Amino acid sequence: MTVIVTGGAGFIGSNFVYHMLSAHPDYRIVCVDCLTYAGNMSTLAEAMKNPNFAFYKTDICDRDGIYEIFEKEHPQVVVNFAAESHVDRSIENPDVFLRTNIMGTAVLMDACRKYGIDRYHQVSTDEVYGDLPLDRPDLFFTEQTPIHTSSPYSSSKAAADLLVLAYHRTYGLPVTISRCSNNYGPYHFPEKLIPLMIANCLNDKPLPVYGKGENVRDWLYVADHCKAIDLILQKGKVGEVYNVGGHNEMTNIDIVKLICKELGKPESLITYVADRKGHDMRYAIDPTKIHTELGWLPETKFADGIKMTIKWYLDNKDWWQTILSGEYKDYYARMYGDRK
Ligand code: NAD
Ligand code: DAU
Repeated sequence: MTVIVTGGAGFIGSNFVYHMLSAHPDYRIVCVDCLTYAGNMSTLAEAMKNPNFAFYKTDICDRDGIYEIFEKEHPQVVVNFAAESHVDRSIENPDVFLRTNIMGTAVLMDACRKYGIDRYHQVSTDEVYGDLPLDRPDLFFTEQTPIHTSSPYSSSKAAADLLVLAYHRTYGLPVTISRCSNNYGPYHFPEKLIPLMIANCLNDKPLPVYGKGENVRDWLYVADHCKAIDLILQKGKVGEVYNVGGHNEMTNIDIVKLICKELGKPESLITYVADRKGHDMRYAIDPTKIHTELGWLPETKFADGIKMTIKWYLDNKDWWQTILSGEYKDYYARMYGDRK
């Protein structure tokens, strides 16, 4: 069995590569990643030593390059993680989000049609459902919730989902889609809330909380997401969408205070800054379908997962400090420099 994992040098993709290499030692795992600012070869250093692993530095929008990989590797399964994934960057410049997230998805599926495939899996997001109001804790996203996006990022992911379902209906491509809530864990790029707050705390820098910090996210430990995708590949029904989430809703401000507490840093580091444009209020996944049909349940409680994550950042300072010393500096100055 050969599985192509696109975006495998990023946060969730790399965790998935390591999950697959250990859960399926008889599989060949082929990572395709063009190494944008978010892709990192040091993350894949251990995988590169495994004879069952191969890496191609290729853009998923490069049709010839992708077709060449299919001709060489003859994959049975493609799991597409490759994407521009940060909402704030999409607000700054939507263009590359449309290119990678929509056109790249089409190129991958065209390759699957041309060379044949047992399964194309699209890694999507709960953000395609838009947001829920804070005063209706009884509401959750189900697979039937209408698509209703807020940002250029979520709109590009929703467009990709529609294309995936269209390729299934029109060409009979054997697809599945997972829509997961916010992940956290090792190798999370420090532009996102949890790793940014850990890194800033450790550097005694201000902790920039958008708006009032009341927005709610539904956090899932990344290993649980990887197991859910593996299960969908094994047992999921072709043409279906599966929501993935663990009923772990928290406000941003509670997360930031918890990180301060765990690291023994004062809450006076917290700085309220201008809100994100179009900021989604609340995400909350109803995971009933993947639980009842496939038997998936999250295994890591947030209280444990956040401790493991903080420990990982303490034990792997080189990994994130190298990132902080590069292009990230310009990004941080642009995004937070005079944000009032
Ligand atoms: P990430 O930004 O950490 O990693 C993205 C990876 O894709 C990087 O390695 C990057 O180099 C690669 N990439 C980007 N453009 C590419 C291109 N044109 N060709 C080849 N490779 C390219 O992202 P992540 O947080 O790991 O998210 C992975 C996927 O999961 C995305 O599709 C995202 O929408 C989805 N998702 C993320 C979360 C989350 O909480 N992070 C939750 C649900 C769904
Ligand atoms: O829900 C799944 C989505 O989760 C994925 O599809 C996205 O790829 C992923 O980036 C994530 O999107 P969010 O926008 O929810 O994640 P982010 O870490 O950027 O922000 C989480 C919350 O924290 C959000 O309400 C904005 C807030 N925030 C974020 C940053 C970076 C702050 O208050 N301050 C910050 O500096």
